[in-house]
Amino acid sequence: MKPLTALEPDEARRLRGVLFDLDDTLLSRGVLEPAAYGALWGLYEAGLALVAVTGRPSGWAEVLVRHWPLAGCVAENGAVYVVRRGAGIARCDGCDGTERSARRARLARLVERVRETVAEATLTDDVDARVSDVTWDVGERVTLPEARVRAIVHEIEQAGARWSRSSVHLHATFDADDKASGALRFCARELGEDQGAAVVRFAFVGDSGNDAPCFAAFRTTFGVANVRDSLPRLRLPPRYVARRAMGQGFAEIAAEILLKRRANPLSAMSSNADLVTLAHQRLYPNYRPAPIALVRGRGCELFDADGRRWLDLCAGVAVCSVGHGHPTLARAIAEQAASLMHVSNYFYNEPNIRLADELCRRTGFDRAFFCNSGTEANEAMLKLARHHFFAQGQADRVRVVAFHDAFHGRTLGALSMTGTPKYREGFGPLGPVTHVPYGDAAAVERAMGPDVCAVIVEPLQGEGGVVAAPPGFLAKLRSVADRHGVLLLADEVQTGIGRLGRFLGFDGSGVRPDAVALAKGLGGGFPVGAMLTTEKLSGALPAGTHGSTFGGNALASAAALAVLRIVDAEKLVEGAASKGEALGEILRDLVRDFPDTCSGARGQGLLWGLVLRQGLVVRDLLPRLQEAGVLLTAAGERVLRFSPPLVVTLAELEEGVRAVRSVLSEIQPAGRAPERAFSATAGRP
Ligand SMILES: Cc1ncc(COP(=O)(O)O)c(C=O)c1O
Repeated sequence: MKPLTALEPDEARRLRGVLFDLDDTLLSRGVLEPAAYGALWGLYEAGLALVAVTGRPSGWAEVLVRHWPLAGCVAENGAVYVVRRGAGIARCDGCDGTERSARRARLARLVERVRETVAEATLTDDVDARVSDVTWDVGERVTLPEARVRAIVHEIEQAGARWSRSSVHLHATFDADDKASGALRFCARELGEDQGAAVVRFAFVGDSGNDAPCFAAFRTTFGVANVRDSLPRLRLPPRYVARRAMGQGFAEIAAEILLKRRANPLSAMSSNADLVTLAHQRLYPNYRPAPIALVRGRGCELFDADGRRWLDLCAGVAVCSVGHGHPTLARAIAEQAASLMHVSNYFYNEPNIRLADELCRRTGFDRAFFCNSGTEANEAMLKLARHHFFAQGQADRVRVVAFHDAFHGRTLGALSMTGTPKYREGFGPLGPVTHVPYGDAAAVERAMGPDVCAVIVEPLQGEGGVVAAPPGFLAKLRSVADRHGVLLLADEVQTGIGRLGRFLGFDGSGVRPDAVALAKGLGGGFPVGAMLTTEKLSGALPAGTHGSTFGGNALASAAALAVLRIVDAEKLVEGAASKGEALGEILRDLVRDFPDTCSGARGQGLLWGLVLRQGLVVRDLLPRLQEAGVLLTAAGERVLRFSPPLVVTLAELEEGVRAVRSVLSEIQPAGRAPERAFSATAGRP
């Protein structure tokens, strides 16, 4: 028998239900304690079957089952139970009427015998409610000497009854009529529980009266707890604790069960605050995370360590393309992990070969190189460009033309191409890169020279503020690159895999780059990066010139393959286009309603930015949005970025924008209240 306080999170997660003693556990002297009642609903909402066990008559049990979230109520100290069946309530007796009368007569004889032997023996004051057992007070109001208690035990045994004892009560019953056996019978017959199961599936929460010892003595597999055990934490005077605060004890135990059920199996800590405190002490402070420790997710919903729900409209910055906890992705990763994770690039592995084939077929590229992140994919493209010319005897072609506000990653090669000075500052000297205004093909032309090896471009600048390439810009870049004999490299780390409502952001531009970098959405949360190239460049990085230990390993490749399968099956690319249009409309409504705070909305597919007016900073808005339960990110100082999982529903997009609307209405200068009521779908089919 294991005390409930020692319940492990794993055992807590396996719990099927909670049996609880009613009196002095939820009720204090017949009065229901609100804390306990709330805790009961908490356990119910967590999916646990609740069974009340009580000495009170079965009529009372009927009332409970009708009005409380109970699977059933074991009444009359186990002699009967009451259960909801369909729309009605059924009462089930442990034995037939004749047998019951016989047991009662035997109990009466036993009481008589004890009275003759130990004249000072006193029955407990709830004797009238007891139908199938009797209980003597041996320490609550009357303290009987030990020898007298033993004399009563002797009488009970002589009568062939079963007894159990707590510090204050001595309890006797005939045959199978007591709370523990009644509860077992209920669990077996009504909940299909195996009586002989060796696994703790039900916890018993009781007081220090005779019930806990009764359950323990029955040698059931139930965990046993005593509400009093948790009461010292309440720091109440003992008298008050004993008489008034038992419901508080139940609430404490319920909270502990729920916390343990929720605890991340990989984490020894359980509360959000604990995790955030430890994070502040131990994680390198190069990020500025919100004080939210997320432990699980499903679709577009995330849950923190305290069980709070968040609507995720950033998808780990455009990474979790198929949402959180997608069963197909989770299963693919688990199955691949169980079969083969990693073999190094000294050998082939099947998922990697298939992934390369899938990506090339979808994009029209010919070759795939794999790595683990966006920055690595861009490093690979940079090395590809330089080595391509080096191999042709043009070792001086090392310079890249890139764009202001471009973001290509944090490793030194990618950083040199990143166009935001604050990211570059302090890390020089960086490689030779010329940054020109995004969208300005003439500036690219002017930046050309005999030392240039490549132009790198995002079809839509994500980090740079959700800025799409102007129409015709990508085609112009292609012709500038061709004229000067340099490579055109596409950074589709954020825009690829359907994010913009087409598989690659370049699709539909009428031109193709020489190489493309992918990452983020490709693994759906599993770190996978890739560089795809044309056949023309297949000799640019010969064997031994570039590599990655983990790149293209079987596990990562299986994850990416599963993502592609889900993208197809759930038509996520098409969905990104149609849902993106709806999101754009909702955001434009918002801009119309909040002209003092928003200057515009821009984006494609499911990558959108709400542009704030000068003087407002997205970082100030994010905590308020988090308070409202919505997770979004900034793209630059003044752009609130929406990059939800591609599986997002229209209702979820509306929920998120509604939160933005309410936060904006808090900061809209007085006298400029929104003119129209919010209706995101009004007028839309
Ligand atoms: C366009 C683009 N390129 C590269 C990167 C860097 O990717 P990673 O953080 O995986 O290295 C990012 C990340 O935001 C990105 O948006």
